[in-house]
Amino acid sequence: MPATHTPSVSDSRVELTQLMRPQHANFRGNVHGGTLLALMDEVAYACATKFSSAYCVTVAADAIELVAPVRVGDLLTLTGAVTSTGRSSMEIGITVTAGNPRIPGDCRDTCRCFFTMVAIDDAGKPQPVPQVRLETPGDKQMHCEAQLRRDLRKRYQEELAKGVCLLPPGGEEG
Ligand SMILES: CC(C)(COP(=O)(O)OP(=O)(O)OC[C@H]1O[C@@H](n2cnc3c(N)ncnc32)[C@H](O)[C@@H]1OP(=O)(O)O)[C@@H](O)C(=O)NCCC(=O)NCCS
Repeated sequence: MPATHTPSVSDSRVELTQLMRPQHANFRGNVHGGTLLALMDEVAYACATKFSSAYCVTVAADAIELVAPVRVGDLLTLTGAVTSTGRSSMEIGITVTAGNPRIPGDCRDTCRCFFTMVAIDDAGKPQPVPQVRLETPGDKQMHCEAQLRRDLRKRYQEELAKGVCLLPPGGEEG
């Protein structure tokens, strides 16, 4: 891909549909949260790789929300797209809807999550990615929210590095 290529958010979009089967169930008979996370990670990988034309690895998952149960027999639709780019990292926003395919129009919001993926070279080192092109007001809003998550993560790491949560000497015994 030429270095001047600036792919848009829509260029990165990936949709995956999958039928939820009995082997995906937890002890209550709903779909296991780990199954949903693994599928979201797969979509994040596909978006990041399609966007950057590079092999990508997952480094973080933020703001995971499982808002409604998914049932065995539901048809899941996972949609992902790049929300922002750094030097080598990309944030991918994923939304998941579920519906019983026997009920026309059934479509429930079930989960959302933001994955940070990093493009790596053959030596396993981070490599530069193109900067995402924002085309719509929705793209710009998602990008602004991604910057907020990045700033909050940085602030959290700075506060931890200052030792704000360290116990005083002997504090671990009380
Ligand atoms: C990806 C990896 C090579 C990056 O190495 P690193 O020494 O952290 O490299 P850097 O510090 O230069 O960070 C690279 C990018 O990752 C981002 N990053 C690293 N850790 C992060 C975290 N916890 N959360 C969010 N972003 C993170 C950095 O901000 C940086 O982004 P930028 O280039 O856009 O500014 C290394 O973290 C790694 O191998 N992680 C394991 C990945 C993996 O095995 N995943 C599971 C299987 S896919």
